Amino acid sequence: MPSLLSSPACLTVIWFLSWSLCPSHAQIGTDEVSGVQYGRLESNVTLECGRSEIGIPVEWRHNHSSVLPWHKVTSDGRLVLLHVNQSAQGNYSCYDNSGLLRSVRLRLGHPPGLLSISCRVPNHTHVHFSWRESVKTFLPAEFNATFRGKGQEGRPCIMDITNRHCDVHNPAFWLTIHMLSVTETNALGSQSTSIHVKLHELLKPDPPESVFVKEIEGFPMRLMVTWQYPSTWQRENAFILLFHIRYKPCGSKVWSEIFTEEDEVVISDALADHLHQVQVRARDNMNSESQWSEWTKQHLVRPWTAHTNPDTPEDTEPLDYDDDLFITEPKTSTMKTPNTVPGDEGNLGLVILLVLFSVFILTTVLSLIFIVWMRQRRHEHATKQELASMVKMKSIPI
Ligand SMILES: *[C@@H]1O[C@H](CO)[C@@H](O)[C@H](O)[C@H]1NC(C)=O
Ligand SMILES: *[C@@H]1O[C@H](CO)[C@@H](O)[C@H](O)[C@H]1NC(C)=O
Ligand SMILES: *[C@@H]1O[C@H](CO)[C@@H](O)[C@H](O)[C@H]1NC(C)=O
Ligand SMILES: *[C@@H]1O[C@H](CO)[C@@H](O)[C@H](O)[C@H]1NC(C)=O
Ligand SMILES: *[C@@H]1O[C@H](CO)[C@@H](O)[C@H](O)[C@H]1NC(C)=O
Ligand SMILES: *[C@@H]1O[C@H](CO)[C@@H](O)[C@H](O)[C@H]1NC(C)=O
Repeated sequence: MPSLLSSPACLTVIWFLSWSLCPSHAQIGTDEVSGVQYGRLESNVTLECGRSEIGIPVEWRHNHSSVLPWHKVTSDGRLVLLHVNQSAQGNYSCYDNSGLLRSVRLRLGHPPGLLSISCRVPNHTHVHFSWRESVKTFLPAEFNATFRGKGQEGRPCIMDITNRHCDVHNPAFWLTIHMLSVTETNALGSQSTSIHVKLHELLKPDPPESVFVKEIEGFPMRLMVTWQYPSTWQRENAFILLFHIRYKPCGSKVWSEIFTEEDEVVISDALADHLHQVQVRARDNMNSESQWSEWTKQHLVRPWTAHTNPDTPEDTEPLDYDDDLFITEPKTSTMKTPNTVPGDEGNLGLVILLVLFSVFILTTVLSLIFIVWMRQRRHEHATKQELASMVKMKSIPI
């Protein structure tokens, strides 16, 4: 039997039992709170004292203090908190002369209000909903969302852990109208919000990806623009995108435009010698009611130049960037650096000459230092020898 008691399995069971029993012992302790009561802010909240008898006076405490918010106590010992605000939250305990009768934690907030829901449709197989509370409730809430096509069975919209988004996969795109209903529930109530959506009108691709703008050698008025379908738009599924390219010389107010179904285009009327801004966006080609994607970020590129006139370097002319809207974020890979070519060979020769010269000076100085040091050493050596012979001479007995 003793061997059985000391066996690891038995010890584990004993440890587990004592561990799981401890909290329940603690809960019986006098200071502990037996439950949570929820109340509405700015209302009157009534707390029951429990088994007090009418006529016996009771004392209420808030967070262990006898200072209570604005209140009254009824004859049967109930505490009525009047027009409560946030600072009335906390632990309330009710005592009579025999001791603690009841302890309760009060949490205050608002019932849910309507939600403000928005919807994003990046392709034909995906709908993404997100929402914000119009009323701050201060209380934990649960959400439940149902998506339904007109005349269809509802199905859950899959919620993520934040409870602020949900996703529908493969919606019935051929139905003109769908409905999303989101229900928020907290301790004080429940509220549903519904919206009707037209998926084909909300369809809005992500912007095109891998956009490159390049000069074309030998053509001072041409620029080559290439891009790819957004990765969230599967080209194979037969939904072709229409692309919209716009471009203008920096400083100009007027955009030129090109529309195409291809994934590259050659601009042939660029302004020679000028930096150009270029952007691309996309839309479902078949569905003219759908939305254009956002523009890609702006690319700044200058067409090819022959550099026949090296006396006037290009970068002396001030670049008049467009003041509004667009972040000037040139892509280094597509930017041309205009001031590297003219006069470069002359500069390089000068640099090499300078380097050679400084190496020569350095070597000379080092050799001089070395020679001086050697001579110093030899001198010291000689002095030491002299001294030694003098000592020897002194030690010779006369
Ligand atoms: C709260 O109680 C006070 C005093 O009894 C009363 O005047 C007031 O109307 C009550 N307010 C609400 C919202 O019930
Ligand atoms: C209220 O009671 C809970 C549960 O016993 C405890 O965790 C919390 O610290 C208490 N709060 C105050 C302000 O006493
Ligand atoms: C909350 O209500 C109490 C009275 O119960 C009052 O003294 C206090 O100033 C109020 N606090 C705020 C932030 O309104
Ligand atoms: C009581 O404690 C709660 C937290 O448990 C806090 O929110 C509240 O402000 C406290 N009130 C007072 C008056 O101490
Ligand atoms: C969510 O809502 C649907 C329909 O409104 C209902 O059938 C379902 O029980 C709800 N689920 C939860 C967890 O509340
Ligand atoms: C549709 O978009 C979603 C979200 O952006 C993406 O996860 C999904 O892969 C896309 N579907 C297709 C077929 O491209």
